[in-house]
Amino acid sequence: MASPPLPSSSPIRPRDFTPTAVMTRCAQKHRPPMFEEASYSPPPWASHLHPLPSRFISLGQFPTPIHKWNLPNLPNGTEVWIKRDDLTGMQLSGNKVRKLEFLMAEAKAEGADCVITLGGIQSNHCRATAVAARYLNLDCFLILRTNRTQVDVDPGLVGNLLVERMVGAHVELVSKEEYRQHGSEMLGKMLKKKLLSEGRAPYLIPVGGSNSLGVWGYLEAVREIEEQLRESTCHPDGFDDIVMACGSGGTTAGLALGFHLSPLKARVHGYGVCDDPEYFYDFIQGLLDGMNANVAARDIVNIVDAKGLGYAMSTNAELAFVKEIAEATGIVLDPVYSGKALFGLLRDMKEKPGEWSGKKVLFVHTGGLLGMYDKLQQLQPFISKWKRFQIPESTSEAGMNVGRMF
Ligand SMILES: Cc1ncc(COP(=O)(O)O)c(C=O)c1O
Repeated sequence: MASPPLPSSSPIRPRDFTPTAVMTRCAQKHRPPMFEEASYSPPPWASHLHPLPSRFISLGQFPTPIHKWNLPNLPNGTEVWIKRDDLTGMQLSGNKVRKLEFLMAEAKAEGADCVITLGGIQSNHCRATAVAARYLNLDCFLILRTNRTQVDVDPGLVGNLLVERMVGAHVELVSKEEYRQHGSEMLGKMLKKKLLSEGRAPYLIPVGGSNSLGVWGYLEAVREIEEQLRESTCHPDGFDDIVMACGSGGTTAGLALGFHLSPLKARVHGYGVCDDPEYFYDFIQGLLDGMNANVAARDIVNIVDAKGLGYAMSTNAELAFVKEIAEATGIVLDPVYSGKALFGLLRDMKEKPGEWSGKKVLFVHTGGLLGMYDKLQQLQPFISKWKRFQIPESTSEAGMNVGRMF
């Protein structure tokens, strides 16, 4: 029986049955309970890849919603939709969760008692790995890269560090110079050797979780989008373009391969936030070769330079833009990844409106909100003013319902 209409004065709004809400509820019926290992079967269009992962562990909140994003100043007829991979969880949130579902399953299958990973001092990947490890009763060792002047002092509790240290990750600092000299692979191996000599059983996860196994997380995301589109009526034709930030390359590799192999077929654009396009094409090629995908990276993805001043460094214009988008749409982008990617995308749309006009674009928000805390000082000038609330002097009302707290 249909429920009676709500009176127009009611503060309760009728349940939202817009296409967005439909897309949010559908899909992913077959996921096992959280933190439980399950055997894995690939989407049919990816079953020829090898090696195939045999197991995964459910860690995140999926499917993530897809909804329309009313961005200002789009070219005529361009629609932008957003996939909310920033909502894959709370402490364990963002794009890394998808990769960790496969990487952690391998760690467990190999009998690891701890995991090692590496990243910048505000690495979202390191924070997600630390939380996932704790959920699965594994210790976590993090090698974090910081400035030379900071390498011998307590790194503090800002942003991702707070969560990492709350869940008991072992934080080990290296300077940028040391990181450059030895490389992430060698540093990870050094720590692994040390832990092995202490009788531990470590599993080493590369920077950003970006190896050929981690890429499966974003092949799965394409299967998820496929299901969301199949079960909704809002976008029977799917999307023309897929856009995301590209940092260590795994997310872009997975989406590019998934949209190439699946029936969805869309152009995939990775906005590089740290290295040059050449570097990313080569790195992604290595990931694809590791899956025996038999395809050229350059044929399936367009890498765009969006690094600006460099990794994790923001111009004032980028930060003002992140603020402007938050104020206009309610979506808060992180300054290091999705903020730069959208900044680059809207720049491209402005420069070449003809290429984007009439297109349906899906932007993947990959999370990273905690990284914003590292930029508080630089953000301050863009934040709106505050003032003290003025209580009218004539007020004679006694306080009611104050409660014991006050
Ligand atoms: C929030 C966020 N978005 C995007 C990326 C980029 O993803 P990937 O490393 O898979 O290229 C990262 C990590 O590097 C990240 O932490």
